Amino acid sequence: MITHTEGESNTSEARRAWAALHPDAPTRELLARDADAFLHQSLSSPCVSTIAKAEGIWIEDTAGRRYMDFHGNSVHHIGYGHPRVVAAIKDQLETLSFSPRRFTNEVSVELAETLGALAPGDLGKVLFTTGGSDANEVALRIARAATGRFKTVSFWDAFHGAGFGASSVGGEATFRSHIAGPLLPGAEHVAPFNCYRCAYGHAGPESCALACAKMVEFVLEREGDVAAVIAEPMRAVPVVPPPGFWKAVRAACNRHGALLIMDEIPTGLGKTGRMFAFEHDEVIPDIVTLGKALGGGILPIAAVLARRDLDVCGDYAIGHYTHEKNPVTARAALETLAVIRDEGLVERSAELGTHALDHLRETVGHHSLVGDIRGRGLMFGVEIVENRETRAPGRAAAERIYYRCLEAGLSFKISAGCVLTLSPPLTIAKGDLDRALSIVADAIGTKAA
Ligand SMILES: Cc1ncc(COP(=O)(O)O)c(C=O)c1O
Repeated sequence: MITHTEGESNTSEARRAWAALHPDAPTRELLARDADAFLHQSLSSPCVSTIAKAEGIWIEDTAGRRYMDFHGNSVHHIGYGHPRVVAAIKDQLETLSFSPRRFTNEVSVELAETLGALAPGDLGKVLFTTGGSDANEVALRIARAATGRFKTVSFWDAFHGAGFGASSVGGEATFRSHIAGPLLPGAEHVAPFNCYRCAYGHAGPESCALACAKMVEFVLEREGDVAAVIAEPMRAVPVVPPPGFWKAVRAACNRHGALLIMDEIPTGLGKTGRMFAFEHDEVIPDIVTLGKALGGGILPIAAVLARRDLDVCGDYAIGHYTHEKNPVTARAALETLAVIRDEGLVERSAELGTHALDHLRETVGHHSLVGDIRGRGLMFGVEIVENRETRAPGRAAAERIYYRCLEAGLSFKISAGCVLTLSPPLTIAKGDLDRALSIVADAIGTKAA
């Protein structure tokens, strides 16, 4: 959707300019009804455009304008409306459409078994929720029960969901404003990894020697009673963890009796070129959460995968959600996993991602506005700066580039105010990817230079 430019105000000049370019009455009318009907909130409502169709990598608005969707809220790994998933859902609706609590069903059990087998290590115990926020809160409850502790360590600027528990471990200002009131006690935060030198493997005297991982251990040690570290294996900004970061944090968790929870809600299921993003870093967490693309870009389903010995909450409720064993969402997820496997999408993501990074480095890598090009698999980004030396964020330029891309038919999101965050479906044709990369390069390279 073309509504996501984080850090941008709803009344920015560029956004108004975009709206003025498309003054068709049906679009304006639907936007007005939306603004009237929905509660307003940052980064969401009011909207800046409308959507009438979503198919493959494309979204189409009510006036027939088409955009390649390089955002898709990270749900569209297999593209929108994949025919196999649509057919599986229809079939499931005819067979068994709901499963009340305490009744199990074949398809939900099969999905739990499949996910348990897919995950490395001993992550074989599963629970489903409707959304990612709930999955993270289930993970936090398990960590509390297993350790007898309640504190957590997580990153500033991270997003783990909108629930009170999830937003307590999240670090985004928009969920932590004065209107939120007191959040969970014991939710400690540290600065996220963001080290330019480490990320590129610089060693020697200029290296900060993984100061970011040492800070995690410092807090674990000082607090002494932390239940879990919860984080995304790769930050969605996107920022790739420096080599050795997760191994150091894993070891620190082990030393201090804290569990490691990895939130793979946007990164999991192949987005980064591995089935789980943490596989790049050769660690295995104690609990993993999945969501978003698990429902095939159609239905909402998320999952918690925990080590078998963390099945310690049998006498308590940790999230028996109404749709915990919904056979229709489970069937969508099972078929999605089959599509990812049958179409070789994890390998495809790795290959196309490498191609995209190389292509961008070649075409805009030396541009004065480009501070960095980074990512893993099909989750990559171009950081726009005012000055390559200081790397001061180029917010205004990023916004100009964003609207140029939209006009040329490419939708994506700006993260951290200045990072063009490009996250296409793993099913994208190479030709479409190249076209999108050219749109980005042209938008950066014309008037912006
Ligand atoms: C890293 C991460 N965790 C959790 C969530 C929350 O997922 P949901 O919106 O399904 O609750 C998101 C959603 O954007 C996310 O990006």
